[in-house]
Amino acid sequence: METVLITGGAGFIGSHVTDALVENGQEIVVLDNLSTGSTENINSSSSVTFIEGDVRDEALVENIFRKNPDISGVIHLAAQSKVGPSLDDPLEDLMINVKGTVTVLEASRRHGVKTFVYASSAAVYGHVESLPISEEARVKPLSPYGASKLAAEQYVQTFGTLYDMNVSALRFANVYGPRQSADTEAGVITIFIEKLLSGHTPYIQGDGEQTRDFVYVDDVVNAVITPFLNSKEMKVNGVFNVSSQSQTPINQLLEVLCKEVGNTFNPDYGPIRPGDIKHSYLSHDKLTKVSNWRPQTPLNEGLKRTVQYYRSLY
Ligand SMILES: NC(=O)c1ccc[n+]([C@@H]2O[C@H](COP(=O)([O-])OP(=O)(O)OC[C@H]3O[C@@H](n4cnc5c(N)ncnc54)[C@H](O)[C@@H]3O)[C@@H](O)[C@H]2O)c1
Repeated sequence: METVLITGGAGFIGSHVTDALVENGQEIVVLDNLSTGSTENINSSSSVTFIEGDVRDEALVENIFRKNPDISGVIHLAAQSKVGPSLDDPLEDLMINVKGTVTVLEASRRHGVKTFVYASSAAVYGHVESLPISEEARVKPLSPYGASKLAAEQYVQTFGTLYDMNVSALRFANVYGPRQSADTEAGVITIFIEKLLSGHTPYIQGDGEQTRDFVYVDDVVNAVITPFLNSKEMKVNGVFNVSSQSQTPINQLLEVLCKEVGNTFNPDYGPIRPGDIKHSYLSHDKLTKVSNWRPQTPLNEGLKRTVQYYRSLY
């Protein structure tokens, strides 16, 4: 039986990826230092082994591969995943996102891993003139976070060129869904829902007409596991955007959420964040050409499920 190592498996996206692969009958090892993740998120199936530790810890990572010689695939999601902390402490961001990635990558190479999936980000692009953004667009990150995600992505691609390893770097748009923490960069949906459910007024930075590309977590999970499910007949190898490929104004997003929660739309508006991009959305045509992957969850449906989840916590 193949084993898949999932780093960051106690986090938002990683826990959903773990659930999906457990359902698919895979043996899973989760490595997570619980810095933002939680043990409550980790699937309790006996096919999941949880190891609490840091992806920068070379001895630990080596040990995991030695103890689990069946690991043939790695899904590397563990990261410092926020823009703010990367501005406050770029060195820490670099160490987690770049050193951590190269540590897992190098151990994967030593132990003959066949498939390596890396979670990259739309943050690698920065300001782009023409929309939707394709993988060929110029990359010019606007934060240390974007820079470290891009640097790690380059390492992943370099290893794919040098060694017999099927590598893919998936550049996620704004992922949303159950278990997302409100203090993440892309957590605007969770922030709005928590405000609405607790009777507070949501706050929009700018006029609310800025647009973003929101992709539901289940659709991201399906993209992440595509190289594992399709590795024989399809080559999901290289850099791919994972997105809804549609633009949603923040005002419209909040209106839908207000309806879902049963509140009237009456947000507070404030100044736009310096450096904020007005419009951003990613083309996913490259991924749909090489795989059967398509986003399946319309925004209204994804928001409905997300509100239901947060309601159940109140
Ligand atoms: N959520 C999004 O919208 C989004 C968008 C683009 C890219 N991404 C990328 O997707 C990945 C997952 O993001 P997420 O939203 O699930 O974030 P998350 O913070 O919920 O998950 C990250 C997980 O990694 C763990 N972790 C952090 N540093 C670690 C370390 N040094 N060693 C071991 N574990 C560590 C955390 O405890 C957490 O469980 C990240 O690589 C992030 O950069 C996310």
